[in-house]
Amino acid sequence: MIYPVLLVIHNALRWLVLGSLLASLGGSYVGWLRNRSYRPIDQTLRVIATSVAHTQLLVGFYLYAKSPIVSYYWKFSPDASEAPEFRFFSLIHIGLMFTSVVLVTVGSSKAKRQTLPQQKFKTTVIYFTLGLLLILIAIPWPFSPLATRPWLRSF
Ligand code: HEM
Repeated sequence: MIYPVLLVIHNALRWLVLGSLLASLGGSYVGWLRNRSYRPIDQTLRVIATSVAHTQLLVGFYLYAKSPIVSYYWKFSPDASEAPEFRFFSLIHIGLMFTSVVLVTVGSSKAKRQTLPQQKFKTTVIYFTLGLLLILIAIPWPFSPLATRPWLRSF
């Protein structure tokens, strides 16, 4: 079964999504504040963060199509909407995560097209911060009131 394997990957990839976004965001924030030039590493970090987010999106779409929780929700909603976790994965998680990846993608391609370093940094900071906030809300943290999942999952 590929589903449990992809669930493990989706879980672990969350840390890469967060790490790469934070790395790009940190560099852009410092670059913006210190008025420095836009270096190749800034571009690399921005592209890596965007690509990792896209990979997570693809894995997410597969999970969404195969998830027993999601299919139960669509089969039995609105009754199933009584269970908050079912509604969370079927509507909230996909909605917020999809929006966040769109924000990261739009921000990244806008920054790519801009010429002034200050513009590039500012665009990355604004779009990536918004994307990161949505991701932090939509992750099923072990302490989340919406749905809880482990910090890491093993095979
Ligand atoms: C940046 C984007 C995303 C992050 C950081 C993220 C993170 C996570 C995490 C940590 C889990 C828990 C995994 C586990 O049970 O061990 C999860 C589950 C899941 N995610 Fe995502 N996700 C993202 C995007 C998406 C998208 C876009 C979709 C749908 C298209 C999606 C669909 C799902 C589904 C269906 C589950 C599992 C539900 C189940 O237990 O059957 N995810 N996600």
